[in-house]
Amino acid sequence: MSRQHDADAPGAGRVALAFGELFGSAPDGVWAAPGRVNLIGEHTDYNEGFVLPFALGHTARVAVALRPDGPPRLRAASLQGADPAGTGQAATAGRIAEAGLGQLEPAAVEPWARYVAGIIWALQQRGHHVPGVDVLLDSDVPSGAGLSSSAAIECAVALALDELLDLRMARQELVLLCQQAENVFVGAPTGILDQSASLLGTAGHALFLDCRSRDARQVPLDLAEHGLAILVIDTRVAHAHESGGYKDLVAACRRGAAALGVPALRDVGTERLAEARRILDADTFRRVRHIVTENQRVLDTVATLDTAGPRAIGPLLDASHASMRDDFGISCDELDAAVEAAQQAGALGARMTGGGFGGSAIAVVPVEDATAVAAAVRHRFAAEGYLAPDLFVVEPGDAARRIDR
Ligand code: GLA
Repeated sequence: MSRQHDADAPGAGRVALAFGELFGSAPDGVWAAPGRVNLIGEHTDYNEGFVLPFALGHTARVAVALRPDGPPRLRAASLQGADPAGTGQAATAGRIAEAGLGQLEPAAVEPWARYVAGIIWALQQRGHHVPGVDVLLDSDVPSGAGLSSSAAIECAVALALDELLDLRMARQELVLLCQQAENVFVGAPTGILDQSASLLGTAGHALFLDCRSRDARQVPLDLAEHGLAILVIDTRVAHAHESGGYKDLVAACRRGAAALGVPALRDVGTERLAEARRILDADTFRRVRHIVTENQRVLDTVATLDTAGPRAIGPLLDASHASMRDDFGISCDELDAAVEAAQQAGALGARMTGGGFGGSAIAVVPVEDATAVAAAVRHRFAAEGYLAPDLFVVEPGDAARRIDR
């Protein structure tokens, strides 16, 4: 594969050089996988519904070497001293986490490195032999920000091992491999949203994905052409999906589907909401209503992008946020403040993005208003006594790729 971006070269060089210093020889290659922003379609993925994410320019980069003659061990290190996978637990920059590959177990690996070990484990589950492997990670996907820093690690490692072991798995299969690693090895019952965006995204496009059939379509999202920018507001309220909240929501959705007699909430349309209200308890009903209306909003957003363009999607984003706040219960004061301040300062639409309980919001803003919107959000956070948010502009970038040649 040829190098896709000149901009990739410095990132590849930096992690390859550090790899040589740490492990004593050059890596076999360097791969990059992006984080993602979800434009709309939250918690619909594990309900077999619709999502509309895009890949970011921010990536996790891994330098990887197989050690077929060495002991069958994983050695993994990260250039980030902080918490490259957003696990809530700090990693030590440059410290090597080691694990035997004979019987890989999550408890034997420090939390961030489980996203690396989990991929090896998932390959072993499929009958592939993985020899000793060294991995060095360097990531600029903000961690714990709801931008899929952990899926970016999984996807970069999966792509690297697929190539080095000559497995030739299709990208859609790699998505499922990464999901299995995250669901079973890491223990977070997530869907395929994050990994699909990272492995299938395309610059200038959002990815419209049917999470049941896995049909994917690239929907043009050329923001600059329409004088727009998407502002990410990282509230710096950390979240983790291995813990309670996310699992409880998955369970509530399953309960709702079972009570309505369908395999997944994907099969419930808005016309059944009145019936759902009658047979479900109040909390479960609100969870169900979010999923049912959110699926419809994804479809409406795609139709709007196709016909009217991105300037017209604002009300759908606003409605999505309200639904997550009021029905799904996954927002928090900081996210609500970010969304509200952005809306009041001229954003066309704004919503929290990702799993929730913290992380980031996005705002679609006319380019000329971006500075004012950012200032308004900062001002509001200061006035509320919140931590200062991180704000940056993003646009749809390319999927995971090899970057050292
Ligand atoms: C997290 C999960 C995804 C998805 C989102 C919510 O990012 O990893 O699978 O469920 O939350 O849309």
